[in-house]
Amino acid sequence: MDMPTSSRLPLPGPEYRVDGVSYCINPNCRQTQALTEGEICQHCGTPLLVNGKYRLVRSLRAMNPLATTDIFEVESWPDRLPKVIKILRDSDPQAIEHFEREALALQWLDHPGVPKVELGDEFTVEIPATGQCLRCLVMEKIDGENLETWVSQHGPIDQKTAIGWLKQLLEILEIIHDNQFFHRDIKPSNIMRRPNGQLVLIDFGSVRTMTNTYVASVHAREVTTSLSVGYTPQEQLDGQAVPQSDFFALGRTFVYLLTGIHPGEIPYQTANARLLWRDKAPQVSTALKDLIDELMALKPSERPASAAEVYRHLSANQLRLTDARLIVNSRKFKFAATLLLALGLGTLGVYRVASPLMSERYARSGTEALMAGELDEAYQLYQKAQRHNPNDVRIYNNLALVCQEKQDRICAEAMYMKALELNPDNATARYNLGELYEDIGDLERAETQYRLAMLSDERSIAALARNNLAGINILNGHFVSAVSLASEGLALAELDQHKATLYKNRGWAYYLQNNYEQAIADLEASIQLLPQQADAYCLLAQVWEAKEMETNVSDLWHKCLENQSPRENLEVKVWQNQARKSLNIQE
Ligand SMILES: Nc1ncnc2c1ncn2[C@@H]1O[C@H](COP(=O)(O)OP(=O)(O)O)[C@@H](O)[C@H]1O
Ligand SMILES: [Mg+2]
Repeated sequence: MDMPTSSRLPLPGPEYRVDGVSYCINPNCRQTQALTEGEICQHCGTPLLVNGKYRLVRSLRAMNPLATTDIFEVESWPDRLPKVIKILRDSDPQAIEHFEREALALQWLDHPGVPKVELGDEFTVEIPATGQCLRCLVMEKIDGENLETWVSQHGPIDQKTAIGWLKQLLEILEIIHDNQFFHRDIKPSNIMRRPNGQLVLIDFGSVRTMTNTYVASVHAREVTTSLSVGYTPQEQLDGQAVPQSDFFALGRTFVYLLTGIHPGEIPYQTANARLLWRDKAPQVSTALKDLIDELMALKPSERPASAAEVYRHLSANQLRLTDARLIVNSRKFKFAATLLLALGLGTLGVYRVASPLMSERYARSGTEALMAGELDEAYQLYQKAQRHNPNDVRIYNNLALVCQEKQDRICAEAMYMKALELNPDNATARYNLGELYEDIGDLERAETQYRLAMLSDERSIAALARNNLAGINILNGHFVSAVSLASEGLALAELDQHKATLYKNRGWAYYLQNNYEQAIADLEASIQLLPQQADAYCLLAQVWEAKEMETNVSDLWHKCLENQSPRENLEVKVWQNQARKSLNIQE
């Protein structure tokens, strides 16, 4: 066979000596090799020193001709350090995209819990005999075993180890999510344990970046997915992965770590898809099991909002000391108190609480207690008010708000339903119920309630319902209807707060239609009316960036970060991450 030399692959210098077995990188040659010496593969002529620097010494998993990648341990030359190389043998565009995303994520993320990739360690290698180009990624080699192997050797872990590992993994996930990535393939074989006990998350082949396009395509169900049976959540299979999808896989990972049983082999309740694993891990507390079940909630919106949030609960040592049920804040509830304080009378938050005609003494005291955050007190007062006047819709509505503040969504929904039973035309209850559904990610039911609330004679509710419908339309990619709904809302709105959010949504829709001039006008109008809210700044920064106008952009990004958003929506998180990136701020 000819042995062509490649101009891309410098031959090793005279100092280089091959010791031990060296593999050939050519995927079509590997069956035949197991070379003991030489600089060039004797079978196909491919240089054995890959990219002039790495020698393949050990395959890290069984050779599988169907896999898109090969993974080897390599030795770098001349320092002879062990590293790992991932080689893409597939030329399918999707496989290339996955490979490049992995390379990007590993180069971008800088944390001991993620394998390091040095500059220049992503390269291509040409096979001289065939002309085939292989993409390669060299990364830090993590000593130790992956957790699947570890558990198969050491058995299920105890509570103390579980809490320690959970904290480590949450910290890594927080870094990943804060950098706008999500992993999408968390499972025991993709987590390694260094000999010093530190965990490292590997295999970023399914990683995605969280961008506006991503958010849009999630809503359009266009996102391709990867599948690890037993670990991948349903929404990801439906092409709708969100950062919370990583929490589901993390929960399933702990089911394996605590039971030693693959989650795909554990029965589940057919009614709610809950995995029946708890009695298989007698060594851990109910509180820890509750937390793991929260991570695995069926709906992403019922899982924790962020890794930091779970981490805080764990750090408070609650799990070790008590069995108290862990309450995980939803995005809405976390902000409700701030909203009431920040916005004052006549605005969105208070408007929903202070029904002006509320005459009963109990109801008034109930509202005072609610505003003061004394929720149990408020609940009792409203109940008394309700007993005195069982047919007052407003009391049920406010009871629902107390339930919502108490993080009891089932109670809140029941109270709104009661209110609507008494008066199906009560637009306030419809609107609030719509928001409740929107917050748990049930956009369809939210839309139904908003459409009914839109019919209200009360202008402010009719305006707000249009505002939220416009938001749902934007997420569904219907920008034209979003613009017309927001315009109708603007014609009805009376309060600055309401106008500001309508301008913001219309500006957002214009921006996504690439109508930058109208977008700028609306977003500036929104900022003028409500300068203390983040959303419009974040959007305006993006419009200026899209127009490639540098002026003011960093100022706007700062304001996007410094201000609050009363409803902590997914998109605002995305924008604030974009702000951090643009401003080079590490959290
Ligand atoms: N950086 C690394 N250091 C050490 N071992 C690794 C490294 N990356 C992968 N491995 C080993 O190779 C196995 C397969 O790698 P992975 O990236 O998960 O690819 P895949 O799941 O596609 O086979 C891992 O389970 C792990 O044992
Ligand atoms: Mg893997």
